This record gives sequence, C-alpha cells and structure tokens, in this order.
Amino acid sequence: MALLKIARMGHPVLLRRADPVADPAAPEIRRLVADMIETMIDAKGVGLAAPQVHVPLRLFVFRIPPARAGAGGEDGELAAGALINPVLTPLGEETAAGWEGCLSIPGLRGVVPRHARVHYAGVDETGTPVSRTASGFHAVVVQHENDHLDGILYPMRMTDLSRFGFVEELAEAAAAPPVARA
Ligand code: NI
Repeated sequence: MALLKIARMGHPVLLRRADPVADPAAPEIRRLVADMIETMIDAKGVGLAAPQVHVPLRLFVFRIPPARAGAGGEDGELAAGALINPVLTPLGEETAAGWEGCLSIPGLRGVVPRHARVHYAGVDETGTPVSRTASGFHAVVVQHENDHLDGILYPMRMTDLSRFGFVEELAEAAAAPPVARA
C-alpha cells in the first residue's frame, strides 16, 4: 500500500476524458484501488478518482461516512469501495445545490447544483457488478467523482461564483457548513 500524489487543478490529467478499464479484476487495478482508498482516507476525503492520482482510467473510490449519511437506503452509509467503468443516469428533474470541495482544489469550497437522484452501475474492485440508486450526499459524491472521469472539476458546474471561496473565510462568514472533500 502506498499514498499517491494528488494532482491539483491546472494539471492536464484533470481535464482529459479518462479511458475505460480493460480488465477491472487485474491485479494492478486492485492495487491501484487499495492505494487510492488509503490516499483518500489519509486526505480525509470521501471520494477520489483515478485521474486525480495521475491515472487516466475510468474508476473512482468513495465512501459515505456515518456523519454524512442520511436515513439509510439510497442516502445511507457506505464503506470505502471502488466503482469501475461507471455509467451514471440522472433520475427525474429535481436538482439540489450544496457545498463541495475537492482534493485537487485544496482549501476551497463552492456551491454546486447537482441532480438530486441518480442511478449508477459499474463493477467493484472484485469484479462484482454494482447497480444502485443514490440520493442526498451519496448522489453528490458519485456525480462529483464521475465528473472527474470526464475532465470536469466542480467549479465548471457552478452557476454562482459568488459562492466560491476559501474554507477559512467561509467559516468566518458562517456561509458554509463543514463539508467533506472528494
Ligand atoms: Ni474532486
């Protein structure tokens, strides 16, 4: 296991469309997933996409910690795991805006509109098919991470740049709740 170097906004690897994973069960993919989970937890993040660690492949790791989970079900707690070659589908027209951060954009937070509910499919790090519906924080995390696979960073989704700023300033202004980074 190893901690991986996280690319920051400005690095071209964060702006390209990532390539599909040819063999999700390959030993090097399992190793990458293990290292990404370790890196995400060390950085106190809730999500980390492969392009963020300079690997332009369509996979990300994420977790829904108890403190960020809703009542359960679609918005319940989830242990750290991987989603490989994800396919994300918005459900319904409802959107919700909330504060987000990103391990590739340290120190900043912004309000981002997202689909309130999504379905996602893919395979996990054991090659097992995954098919889930997500809402609440769970839906936000998978949309944020899936965007990384298409070269999209959260500021590109923002519609009100007046709600974008440094964590310390926002906390002082009490404009933002503490949010996790993905
Ligand atoms: Ni991010």
